[in-house]
Formats: sequence, C-alpha cells, structure tokens
Amino acid sequence: MFVRRVAVIGAGYVGLTTAACLASLGHNVVCADLDPVKIERLRRGEIDIMEPGLADLVVEGATSGRLEFAVGAADALRRQAGSTQVLFLCVPTPMGVGGVADLSAVESVIDEVRDVLPSGCVVVNKSTVPVGTAQRTADLLGREDIPVVSNPEFLSEGSCVRDFLNPDRIIVGAQSQDAAERVAVLYARLGAPTVLTDSASAEMIKYAANCFLAMKLSYVNAVAELCERLGADVADVTEGLGHDRRIGQAFLAPGPGWGGSCLPKDTHALLQVADSVDFEFRLLRATIETNVRQHQRMVDKVRLAVTGKRNGSLSRVRIAVLGFTFKAGTDDLRDSPALAVAALLRQAGADLSAHDPAIAADTCPPQAAALMSVHDDPYVAVKDAEAVLVLTEWPQFRTLDWAQLAGSVRRPLVIDMRNLLDRDVVNRAGFSWVGLGRPPTDAVTG
Ligand code: UGA
Repeated sequence: MFVRRVAVIGAGYVGLTTAACLASLGHNVVCADLDPVKIERLRRGEIDIMEPGLADLVVEGATSGRLEFAVGAADALRRQAGSTQVLFLCVPTPMGVGGVADLSAVESVIDEVRDVLPSGCVVVNKSTVPVGTAQRTADLLGREDIPVVSNPEFLSEGSCVRDFLNPDRIIVGAQSQDAAERVAVLYARLGAPTVLTDSASAEMIKYAANCFLAMKLSYVNAVAELCERLGADVADVTEGLGHDRRIGQAFLAPGPGWGGSCLPKDTHALLQVADSVDFEFRLLRATIETNVRQHQRMVDKVRLAVTGKRNGSLSRVRIAVLGFTFKAGTDDLRDSPALAVAALLRQAGADLSAHDPAIAADTCPPQAAALMSVHDDPYVAVKDAEAVLVLTEWPQFRTLDWAQLAGSVRRPLVIDMRNLLDRDVVNRAGFSWVGLGRPPTDAVTG
C-alpha cells in the first residue's frame, strides 16, 4: 500500500470529499480553505455541506490523525513540513463573462504556493477547467521540477462519497507518464479502470461527459414533449430505451430542465471553447436551448392546466411549489430549474408559496425568498393553492398525506414535473394529476 502526503486546496464539495476519502484510503491529508470560520468548524467535526457519509469520514480522518485542516494553501504545506507529494487544486471555477470559466481562484493558489512547493511535488487539477488549463497552470507556476496533472472529478452532489469510493473510472492526464502514475497510485485501492492520457484529453473527457449527460436530458425532455403530443407514455418509452445497454437507464427521467453548479456551467464553457476554435457545435447549442425552452414549457403547462387556455392569465393565481433545490438530496439552489420556472411564473403574475425539505424558511437564500413565500410545513405551503407543482424529486413528497393536502388547497390539481408521485394515490386522494410525457389522470370521485 502506497501512503502519500497530500494537500487539498479548497474545502467545498469536491475538496472536502477528496480530502476525507483520500484519508480514508490511508493517505495523510491536509485540507485547506481560505475561510477560517469554515476550517475552525471542520476541526470540530462540523460540516455545512449536505453529503451523506462525509461528516463520518471527516471525523474518522481527524480521529486517526490522517486528516487535518489549514487556513490557506501555504499553511497546508507548512503543516507537512516540506514533504507534500501531491497538491490538489479543488477551488471554484465559476462561469465568467460570456460563459468562459473564471480561473482566478486557481491563479491565486498558484501565486501562493509557487515559491514554497517542495521540489518533485505533483500539482493536480481536479476542478473542471477549460482544455489547456493544465498547461497554463504549469506556465503560471514556472517550475520545471513540478509536474501539473489533470485528474477531473466525477462526483454528483448528494452522492459524492459513494462516487469517489466507487468510481466508474479514474482519469489522469499528464505530459509525463511518471507524474501520471504518481497520481494514479493514490487511487490504487479502489481497483477502478484507469485511463492515463495527456492533460488536454483528460480535461476534454470531463467536459465531454457532462455535456453528454446534458444532451441526454434535453433529448429525453424533448421525447417527453413528443409523447404528450402523440399520446404515448414516456415512462414506458424510457424503460424500453434504457434496457438497451448502449443507452442505459440512467439520466432518462424527464424534468423541468437540468441545472446545478456543473451542467449549465460546463455546457456553456465547452460551447465557448468550440466557438474560440471556429467550431460550430450545433448539437451542444441545441442542448442548451432545449433546456431554456423547457422552463417556459413548464409555465405553459401550468397555464393550460390551471386556466384551460393556452393564453389564460396566471395573474394573482396562487400556486404551491414543492421542492426548489436543483435536485433531490442536496440543499444547493445554484442554477435550480425549479427557481427558473418559479421566476417565470412570478413574471406571469402568479403568487407562489413553497416548501423544500432541505431549506428552512428562516434561512432561505434570497434568490428563492424573493420569488416565493417559503414554509417549513408542506401542508401550510399548499393552503388555498389553485395548483400544486412538484419541481424537485424529493421522495418524501410521495408519502405526504395527499388527502389532507386536498382538504387545504382551493383546487386539487397537482402538476408533477418530475413524474414522481404515484398517480393512483393522488387520484384517490382527490387530486387530478398532470405529469410530463404521460397522459393526465383525473381524481377518483364517489
Ligand atoms: C454532475 C454530473 O452528474 C457529475 O458526474 C459531475 O461530476 C458533476 O456534475 C460535476 O461536474 O462536478 P451534479 O451537478 O451533482 O453532477 O448533478 P446531476 O446529478 O448530474 O443532475 C444535474 C441536473 O439534471 C439536475 O437538475 C437533475 O435534477 C437533472 N436530472 C438528472 C434530470 O432531470 N433527470 C435525470 O434523469 C437526471
């Protein structure tokens, strides 16, 4: 077993998961962040990220002495007294002007560590960065004795620990075989297929994967719309599609659009990169446009279901929203399709009240609170609503007492934009059900 001394810069989803999981694999890890309050809390075992299993791994790492925390990259290196063998960059790369990834966080870490990195240490880029960034990082660093390696992450929010410890593959891109192998060996215990390649290809793999997932989702949302027009049922269609092993069952659930901190940013960034080399990536452009259109399509659906007319007015219509995180299992609101739909409904004049199991009313971030009155109790959120919208696929919505909800709404109509609910259950409770790509069903009366 190869034990390495590793510094991880950044204690967000990716950094903290990387640090805690590498410590659980036996490596000695220091995880650094610029936020001293966050680091103090981590030292006490307090974690403000909602990730199953992460808190336990952090505590386990701290107890075993294999995981410690530092404020800033230079402090992390000091704590390992010049013996750091691998330094991971796990800092944010947000979407900057015109869809280009903003690399200022990567640049400032490089400035901080340039003169203190021990010779032979490998710098690893884990954040999703434009093709060519490993080379740019190496140029910025300006140290011939420090190789820069690209090792993109494939962690989904809500299952980061599971994804890290059970990867489909490990991708390591470097100019030298030796540097690539020094990174690959960190994961040896996981026994995953490992692709060793050059850094530009490794960076491209990450974008190609996320853009493919986005394309699959836009495709299935378009198929769902077509099913509606043709009277087919998308649930059966996707089941039939997914049995084809070349397609697979994953990422075939239609929804109000895809969002989150990654797919929207990465699709725009790759489009921008394609533009910069005069490549008209029509398929990717259509993938993004289909997604934007999906938000409007959801509003049209609400309009038709509530008013019975394509151009009916939603002004002052009271609508309840169940779920507004970008997907279930997270408290993240970044680029949430639910909020995009809510914003359009507000523009159309609707009054929105909302509930999300992961967002408390008193600490609700302003981007949601500005659009909707937020309630901790779903039964309060639906009071007097003319329609209930399911926008995030939280499983607990299936087991709400739908008969009780039917008693407090003004009109028992549920528009299930995740095809989440059991239609028979809600129909028997007195609700009419409208979904995506499936025939609507009526309340059971009498
Ligand atoms: C995504 C990728 O799935 C990860 O592999 C990748 O590592 C990560 O980005 C990243 O680049 O860091 P994540 O942003 O956590 O992970 O979210 P996803 O699980 O991909 O979901 C994205 C959106 O698609 C959500 O809005 C979700 O509700 C939607 N979705 C997903 C559907 O509408 N239907 C599906 O069947 C699956």
